[in-house]
Amino acid sequence: MNVLIIGSGGREHALALKISKSNLLDKLYCLPGNPGTASVAENIETPVSDFESIGRVVIDKSVDMVISGPEEPLVRGLRDYFESDGRFASLRFVGPDSRGAQLEGSKDFAKEFMKKYNIPTAAFQTFTKNSIDAAFDFLKGLNPPYVLKADGLAAGKGVLIINDIEEAKRELKEIFEGKFGSAGERVVIEEYLDGIEMSAFAISDGKDYLILPEAKDYKRALDGDCGLNTGGMGAVSPVPFADSQFLKKVEERVIAPTVKGFEKEGIKYNGFIFAGLMNCNGDPYVIEYNVRMGDPESEVVLPRIKSDLLAHLVAMCDGKLSEEKLEIDTRTALTVMCVSGGYPGIYEKGIEITGADSCDAESDTTLYHAGTALKVNKLVTAGGRVIAVTSFADSIEMARVESYKRLSKIDFKGIHYRRDIGLDLI
Ligand code: AMP
Ligand code: GLY
Repeated sequence: MNVLIIGSGGREHALALKISKSNLLDKLYCLPGNPGTASVAENIETPVSDFESIGRVVIDKSVDMVISGPEEPLVRGLRDYFESDGRFASLRFVGPDSRGAQLEGSKDFAKEFMKKYNIPTAAFQTFTKNSIDAAFDFLKGLNPPYVLKADGLAAGKGVLIINDIEEAKRELKEIFEGKFGSAGERVVIEEYLDGIEMSAFAISDGKDYLILPEAKDYKRALDGDCGLNTGGMGAVSPVPFADSQFLKKVEERVIAPTVKGFEKEGIKYNGFIFAGLMNCNGDPYVIEYNVRMGDPESEVVLPRIKSDLLAHLVAMCDGKLSEEKLEIDTRTALTVMCVSGGYPGIYEKGIEITGADSCDAESDTTLYHAGTALKVNKLVTAGGRVIAVTSFADSIEMARVESYKRLSKIDFKGIHYRRDIGLDLI
């Protein structure tokens, strides 16, 4: 079969590499892809926002399955687009329709969904500009720190955690005045959850699910969890503090009721579920849902899947997920992301990268391209997050040694990466 992956990051490179190994695959395409995906797929230069062009690619290349890496096309209705046109009747699509994608696209939708289906999450209320006085009253009733969340997609910047109530009120006003554009027309205010964060993953066809390995992401730019929030600076899987008892609770209290909720709501899902969780004294609480895989979590979760991911996705699209069995590598996968100097703020692009040749196939270390490009046959930086280096080993310590050893050979002007990925878990 022919598969088209939408997106251009490390997550898409990890998806492409995993799917390229499937016996079910004839031809793999990435749109637009990156120099990493080009080693296992044909990249197609088409803007992800242009559904008509993507549709033409699907027809021209006889694509049988489309996988959306990022959330934007899902929130904007890429699946709905294919479903509304009879020419795509036999296409398998990985990702929910725009209604299901609201789980990520609207914090209020996600919180109401969790409330309705008894999925543990922080107590909350949603407010608009017109209910700002009620919002101030609600804030007064909470203990600090105060958690404010712009309802819509705000490029990962829409969540504020503030210690001082007067500052929280000021920020709330600014959000309603347009600080996050239309994403901030509604704001969820919620109770602060004290615990350790991790992420759970599954695929679901809207009635059954298959749980994928869990991961821990490192969101802050600097060592010791300091600096600004980023898309993610590294990840580890498995997560030592997520023991089998905790993971059982995640399945019973989060994943199973989420899928039940899809069924009850008539949501067409067929995609990845990514639940951002807080482990509060051994109990999982959902902080957020994403309707896609994480990045850089994909760079540790997907390589740990030993069974045929493409076969699992086909079964999911065909409503036969209950027959699937996942096989996983029990070793530790640890990834470190190297980023452009200045990221997540302003950074330069087009800087030459050295030492980023692929590792040999037998090695337990893999380079995943994120923001890279080829310029006159030279590899250059093309984004904030540049390359993720994933290593497998029998322990976090050993995986750290291998990833950092390989990273030390990669260089570009301004290169930055955290030195403490996984250290807190040892
Ligand atoms: P979100 O975009 O909802 O994942 O929020 C971004 C980050 O804010 C999360 O990864 C958490 O670190 C933090 N966060 C969000 N909600 C809460 C909460 N209720 N309590 C504590 N931390 C939170
Ligand atoms: N690494 C967090 C995310 O993909 O949303």
